[in-house]
Amino acid sequence: MSLTGLVKGTGPSGFGWSTTAEQVVDGLDLSDRTILLTGCNSGIGLETMRVLVARGATVLAAARSREKAIAAGEEVGGDTIPVVCDLAEPESIRRCVEDIQEKDHRIDALIANAGIMALPKLETICGVEKQLFVNHVGHFLLITGLLEQLTDDGRVVMVSSGAHKAAPREGIEFDNLSGEKRYGGWRAYGQSKLANLLFARELGRRFEEGDSNRKANAIHPGPIDTNLTRHMNVLARGAWTVMGPLFLKSIPEGAATQVWAAVHPDTADYNGEYMADCNIAKSSAEGADSELAEKLWQETEKIVESLDATGSSHVAVQGTAKSAS
Ligand SMILES: NC(=O)c1ccc[n+]([C@@H]2O[C@H](COP(=O)([O-])OP(=O)(O)OC[C@H]3O[C@@H](n4cnc5c(N)ncnc54)[C@H](OP(=O)(O)O)[C@@H]3O)[C@@H](O)[C@H]2O)c1
Repeated sequence: MSLTGLVKGTGPSGFGWSTTAEQVVDGLDLSDRTILLTGCNSGIGLETMRVLVARGATVLAAARSREKAIAAGEEVGGDTIPVVCDLAEPESIRRCVEDIQEKDHRIDALIANAGIMALPKLETICGVEKQLFVNHVGHFLLITGLLEQLTDDGRVVMVSSGAHKAAPREGIEFDNLSGEKRYGGWRAYGQSKLANLLFARELGRRFEEGDSNRKANAIHPGPIDTNLTRHMNVLARGAWTVMGPLFLKSIPEGAATQVWAAVHPDTADYNGEYMADCNIAKSSAEGADSELAEKLWQETEKIVESLDATGSSHVAVQGTAKSAS
């Protein structure tokens, strides 16, 4: 347990900073659940899958390639179904949606866990800054495409971050979604994680308006040493590692909150919430702004429509454009 874990203890749920995913599912029988998980092959995603299948769940294990999804499934054992979904490739996301629809998998929980962080140079996909595209737009396309497959009491869990507080002052820079007017890797990451949070709020609101019992929430897993730090510079990575025992969570601790939100009976009625350390948490003011959430939804729909119109994914790195399909 890190020093932070000792200081923070547990919250009203009885869980806290140091709770592991395994402790969250202790005693639960998940053999009737099917859970779609993006980013299944690394970090807290891999641990999430390991813990869920150990309790009997079937995991639709989504990764960028079939090889990665299969290898991750073999690593954890249990009932996993490999799914290819590259969130940087609209065509790959569409094929993933069609595949799941064709096989008519019913989904009890969808954990949008995949993500990238702090790209040092501006990269765009179809005119959208890459972190915003992969972390938010890609998941938007995937999740809205699969709503028919979500059971009546199904749950959507968006893996956001405390870094949503590092988003630009106005929250989402609608006049700069490409990042070309100004760009900072951390700001852009913060914006994309705020977008995850706002998406969960708005989806939760839409669920509430409908007649189903479906729920959508966003979570912050905590700071954890994973492959996510791959774009950090050497100094920052060094500090991250050295300070680890003081303020980092272990991977089993880091996976706990998304597992809590996705399958624990105590969270079945939570909707549109932000969670951290397996408890309800307070987001930034922008993260609680329902008008901003609705506007982001509408703007994202426009982006998705423009993808439908072009039918191709267009990738550019610092102004050098190349067609990806
Ligand atoms: N670690 C932390 O301190 C921390 C803190 C707050 C929030 N989070 C959030 O937690 C989530 C999981 O991160 P992690 O720490 O476990 O990092 P990680 O080990 O780097 O895992 C990220 C996962 O996302 C996948 N991914 C990346 N780009 C993708 C794409 N284009 N399409 C589909 N999948 C893609 C990766 O696949 P590849 O292996 O193929 O790249 C990997 O499976 C992220 O959403 C992150 O923002 C993490």
